[in-house]
Amino acid sequence: MKKAKVYTVTSVKGGTGKTTFTLNLAVAMRLNKKRVLVIDLDAAAGDIAARLDLTYEKNLYNCYEDIRNHTFDQVENYIYPYKDGIDILPAPKDPRYANKIESSFLPYLLSKVSLKYDAVLLDTNHFLSALNLLAFDYSDKILYVINNDCMNLKGMRTMSAIFEDMQSDKMLIVLNESTRKATGEYSVGDMRNIMKREIDYRIPQSFYRKNFDKYTRYGKILLMDKKVRNNCKKAFKVYQAIASELCKEV
Ligand SMILES: Nc1ncnc2c1ncn2[C@@H]1O[C@H](COP(=O)(O)OP(=O)(O)OP(=O)(O)O)[C@@H](O)[C@H]1O
Ligand SMILES: [Mg+2]
Repeated sequence: MKKAKVYTVTSVKGGTGKTTFTLNLAVAMRLNKKRVLVIDLDAAAGDIAARLDLTYEKNLYNCYEDIRNHTFDQVENYIYPYKDGIDILPAPKDPRYANKIESSFLPYLLSKVSLKYDAVLLDTNHFLSALNLLAFDYSDKILYVINNDCMNLKGMRTMSAIFEDMQSDKMLIVLNESTRKATGEYSVGDMRNIMKREIDYRIPQSFYRKNFDKYTRYGKILLMDKKVRNNCKKAFKVYQAIASELCKEV
């Protein structure tokens, strides 16, 4: 039986576009007919449910608690369908619950979803917390979403040295040029030299949407909108390329 591939989306700094990337990647995978689950592992500040205008009751904390108390019944109790077949496991509504979640429940949770999906996307924050580190261990690839600025590059230089030290080939670097209008400071060559690593994918600046907040307000993911796919062909192609690389053996 085919098991879901697990992909963690992370960064070295906050606000680089991880959640936006995760959701649009989920759309690209769905358009590729893959069964996709997005787990909001940003337990303290996760906003996927709010961004998708999702009505939900149970969340990551309830799932953790039920597993711990042996009252866990079925994983479907914590998963909510979003449009067009993307499933969501939301973060806790109350950020105070984040610290109560012990990371050790994650492997059990992943084992419960692995036969139901082709891909599981874990949207995280930029901290090297126990939960995120365990997510790394259980991921097939770890996608670092970075911006073109010196603190991102400094952090990535450190992380790529650590991955090399661990002889891990899980890291993929996604340069996100679409979070703001201004273009970055460094050339791709400079970035490569600083990080001592290649950039694997670039989300082009043309994917920047002036009316981004409107999409959020209406619970929409940019690439679900045909108009956006038509107006941002270059960005859509990049997402399609990432989706098909990640789903290759799925
Ligand atoms: N394509 C886009 N067009 C316009 N603005 C964007 C785009 N993508 C991201 N942004 C802006 O960047 C902000 C941060 O994006 P996002 O929430 O995806 O980052 P994040 O890395 O998940 O943040 P956090 O570290 O807080 O979880 C958004 O709130 C939005 O204002
Ligand atoms: Mg986020």
